[in-house]
Amino acid sequence: MTSSFSRRHLLSVDAVSSADVSALFDHVAEMKQLVEKKGGDDRLKGTIMAALFYEPSSRTMASFITAMQRLGGGIIPISAMKEHSSVVKGETIQDTARVFSSYADVLVIRHPEVGAPAQLAQAASVPVINAGDGAGEHPTQALLDTYTIHQHFSDFKGITVGLIGDLLYGRTVHSLSKLLVRRGVRRFMLISPSALRMPTDIVTFLKEEGATVEEQDRLIEHVSDLDVLYVTRVQKERFADVDQYEGLKDVYHITPDVMRLAKGTAVLMHPLPRVGEISPEVDDDPRALYFREQTRNGLYVRMAILDRILR
Ligand code: NCD
Repeated sequence: MTSSFSRRHLLSVDAVSSADVSALFDHVAEMKQLVEKKGGDDRLKGTIMAALFYEPSSRTMASFITAMQRLGGGIIPISAMKEHSSVVKGETIQDTARVFSSYADVLVIRHPEVGAPAQLAQAASVPVINAGDGAGEHPTQALLDTYTIHQHFSDFKGITVGLIGDLLYGRTVHSLSKLLVRRGVRRFMLISPSALRMPTDIVTFLKEEGATVEEQDRLIEHVSDLDVLYVTRVQKERFADVDQYEGLKDVYHITPDVMRLAKGTAVLMHPLPRVGEISPEVDDDPRALYFREQTRNGLYVRMAILDRILR
């Protein structure tokens, strides 16, 4: 099997075509069946993934590791690169790339600086996957979110996607909006406080691709319009000014009352972790996908990505 992901880096959704996504989604469905029937297989036996995390992670790290193990591969998980690797001694990212390229067949990196995965990729001799770079991108999260939305809405042209919360620093919404517009979404409602608006280059891109983009401050007036409510955490770690963070962190709160205003067919998503944006009473609402499909799809999508990159 060869694919457009084969032996390539995955640094941004910019390099992922709509055809790549369609092929990947067929593969994701296979991975789901494989896990449900047999738990996995040994197709990646003899290959190793290094997970180099310079920032905290629960789901992304755990799902990449699980994905590799369910396909028979091995792992080098370093969840505290800044504390427990030679980075502490001053090693550059280029040297780290050279070293880990001689042990592993694929490098997965999360880093607080935008562009760090691209720097790693320049010096690496194996494919690099961006698992989140600062306030930049998070392409694998966008692929799993798009897959989840695709399971609920077969025609993206007719849906209104609401991205809610920290659109400035939230890397998931940067990658997701770019991927969704390429998959045919024609209407975005960007709901954020004015201090946390979507970067203008992304808004311009969405418009150039033919979408209508509305920027709003208030959520409540627009909830009934939305097919997708994608809520994000205000990204505390990106704020230099703690008081500014404190003033913005509780700006939106999804409660059962808010969900009563939403369409019966709407979906409520969150990349997690949530820190108060969605009240726990909403978790049992069948429209809330974050602990159900979204988390599980993270595993299947990362299995499919690793399989396509490594074979
Ligand atoms: C997100 C991230 O790291 O960007 N988490 C994740 O990977 N699921 C979202 C966040 O931290 O708010």
